[in-house]
Amino acid sequence: MSTRTAVYPGSFDPVTNGHLDIVERALALFDHLRIAVAYNKDKPGGLFTREDREAMIAEATSQYGDRVSVDSFHGLLVDYARDNGAGAVIRGLRAVADFDYEFQMALMNRHLCTDVQTVFLMADEAHFYTSSSLIREVATLGGDVSAQVPPCVLRALNDKFSK
Ligand code: PNS
Repeated sequence: MSTRTAVYPGSFDPVTNGHLDIVERALALFDHLRIAVAYNKDKPGGLFTREDREAMIAEATSQYGDRVSVDSFHGLLVDYARDNGAGAVIRGLRAVADFDYEFQMALMNRHLCTDVQTVFLMADEAHFYTSSSLIREVATLGGDVSAQVPPCVLRALNDKFSK
């Protein structure tokens, strides 16, 4: 029997409980999930390094064993998916506001590669207002994000902002 593999791409700066909710749902549909941190070689940027992001995702998903792998990529997502034998790309949807951008990306990806399908999953409504950018902003300003991120991310944020 063939293994159904999906790629879950994103910036994950940092990974949130909303992302982890999507991971759980994707694993109900696919045998293997490759969580892939997108990075730009020429413009590193962001709050956490690529290595830190990968390490936090790996720690936060360790309970899934070898059903989840963590990686990073640059260049086109569809090339990464194809090179890694993934027939699907997972994206999480929160509110309708996400839809426009996601729809455009999915159609562009389909234009680039017809073999890779985009699968949209909805996180629990408890995560509808959770986003990495809001987490970064609130944590930078000293707010409490403990309900929205896994413990390893909370530790890293506290270290960064010396709480
Ligand atoms: O978490 P994000 O920032 O919303 O993720 C966006 C991401 C990384 C999935 C998207 O920017 C992407 O796929 N980048 C890789 C480059 C690429 O393939 N671009 C064309 C997509 S239409």
